[in-house]
Amino acid sequence: RTDSYDTDVLVVGSGPAGGSAALLLATYGIRTLLVTKYGWLANTPRAHITNQRTMEVLRDLGVEAEALAHGSPSHIMGDTVLCTALKGEEIGRIRSWGTGPGSLTEYTSASPCQMIDLPQTYLEPILTTNAAARGAKIRFDTEFLSLTQDEDGVTALLRDRVRGDEFTVRARYLIGADGGRSTVAEQIGLPMDGRMGKAGSMNIVFKADLAQYCAHRPSVLYWVLRPGAATGGIGMGLVRMVRPWNEWLLVWGYDIEQPPPSVDEEEARRIVRDLIGDPDLPVEITSTSLWTVNHTYASAYSSGRVFCMGDAVHRHPPSNGLGSNTSVQDAYNLAWKLAMVIRGEAGPVLLDSYSAERAPVGRQIVERANLSRDQFGPVFETLGVGADSDERAIAEGIAALRAGTAEGAKRRRLLEDAIQLKNYEFNAHGVEMNQRYVSGAVLADDCPAEEWENDPELVARPTTRPGAKLPHAWLVDSNGERVSTLDVVGKGEFTVLTGLSGGVWDAAVASCRDELGISLRSVRVGDDDCRDAYGEWNRVREAAEDGVLLVRPDGYVAWRRDTAPETAPEARDELLGALRRVLGR
Ligand code: FDA
Repeated sequence: RTDSYDTDVLVVGSGPAGGSAALLLATYGIRTLLVTKYGWLANTPRAHITNQRTMEVLRDLGVEAEALAHGSPSHIMGDTVLCTALKGEEIGRIRSWGTGPGSLTEYTSASPCQMIDLPQTYLEPILTTNAAARGAKIRFDTEFLSLTQDEDGVTALLRDRVRGDEFTVRARYLIGADGGRSTVAEQIGLPMDGRMGKAGSMNIVFKADLAQYCAHRPSVLYWVLRPGAATGGIGMGLVRMVRPWNEWLLVWGYDIEQPPPSVDEEEARRIVRDLIGDPDLPVEITSTSLWTVNHTYASAYSSGRVFCMGDAVHRHPPSNGLGSNTSVQDAYNLAWKLAMVIRGEAGPVLLDSYSAERAPVGRQIVERANLSRDQFGPVFETLGVGADSDERAIAEGIAALRAGTAEGAKRRRLLEDAIQLKNYEFNAHGVEMNQRYVSGAVLADDCPAEEWENDPELVARPTTRPGAKLPHAWLVDSNGERVSTLDVVGKGEFTVLTGLSGGVWDAAVASCRDELGISLRSVRVGDDDCRDAYGEWNRVREAAEDGVLLVRPDGYVAWRRDTAPETAPEARDELLGALRRVLGR
């Protein structure tokens, strides 16, 4: 304890949001205390699809290798199957998560990172143990109860669940990463839109050897059309791989208008065997739980010195696999801002940009995930099945689909359309990558509004426009190894990025460092340690070689200038002006 504060930042919750926030803040050297209600981290493997933007955060934090070691690689993720049971009829398949031939190039060229399947039970320990190793204090069995805040800080009332007593912690800032039933968001009165509890769903975690049904069509998601599949839940029954091919999570719906079902071990085993289609399958039930499908987002993420992130501010079904990903990226957006404000390198106004930048993303993913859930509808319609359809009706639907008649041909065409529509869930690369920030921490230039030649939800579009993430391009370092443009920025620092002929920016960077007292990295693409050997950077930079990009610690472009000004003093004044505005100084 070095002053009247117990910690600089108190993080409530150790899920993907809180764990990332603690790891980022500790990495940036900020005194951080993470408290979490239970004795350990996630005990069920809920989130798993880990997209490229999240992997980029883990890469920047130096923990990407750990994630890759614990996750299942993309090549065994992508053969999403629609079927009547794992042992039953296959309705169709969707090459997913960028593994299909059409999208593979697009995914691999958009990021230095691959998408992986990393269950939450593996992600959370990576975040929290590294946060602790880097100096964050982690306190389990500690429940947040309430808070008060004033001009200088936040006082939180906590309960030690081991001893049972209550105590207070004084922090400069508090992060509420306490999930979908967030007490913090409620206490600071964040405005919430939408609706909670619109459908009922259950998770059944189980162990069973399903290699014979899966190894030849490797996927993380097997969607199952059994009687009742259209009731509640997330679109269809789902058998989801946790570990290939013997650990699983099954998602099945229930009618929210009825009392919640009681799912004992016997009932859980029955549901598992039903969706697999094997009444004698040896199944070991690990756990069962009920949850509801929500459609809720906050239109503001902070109040005073308290900031919320993750499911606390966006609540939606797991469709598209966006929840944990968005939570990690919320933390990536806020952590560097808090660090710079706490160190006195930025004005507190910088923190306003968190809500301005992340609330629109939260709203978009809530809408998208809910729409994806509904977009199973056309599959049901093509097969002529509905909420009340029994086994016979489903069998008739499949038979009609297979008929060698004009009507059968028509159904097959419709099914193809229905399956193509699911690209918005399983290949929504644009949803994952195309965030554009508009806020005080981004200085828009005067170029015309962005034009989207492709569907912005499906296709990632790299750009160096202010507010977009720096495009990935492979460079080559002095050892001849590939490094990404994303590897030469980040790590908690602003970067000034130009080309070999942009020498005028060198002196400007040195002068801004002195003037503002911040660390500011200078990168000249073309230097020995980052040669544009493949010409990839040249193709995406959208500016002249001597132009400049001011890249934030989270890799987003804050400011750009297409060409260098005539003189060094002009370059200095412009860069300094840009930094002052972005940092609120
Ligand atoms: P999360 O709920 O994970 O964590 C909240 C934390 O706060 C916990 O540590 C809790 O103990 C703590 N806490 C709560 N109240 C507290 C209090 N009063 N005091 C102290 N601590 C408190 N997402 C994704 O990106 N990809 C995917 O593939 C999937 N798949 C998926 C499948 C299924 C079946 C589900 C149900 C969900 C998903 N998700 C997902 C969503 C994902 O699980 C979810 O969005 C994240 O867990 C949200 O992370 P948070 O850290 O915000 O909250």
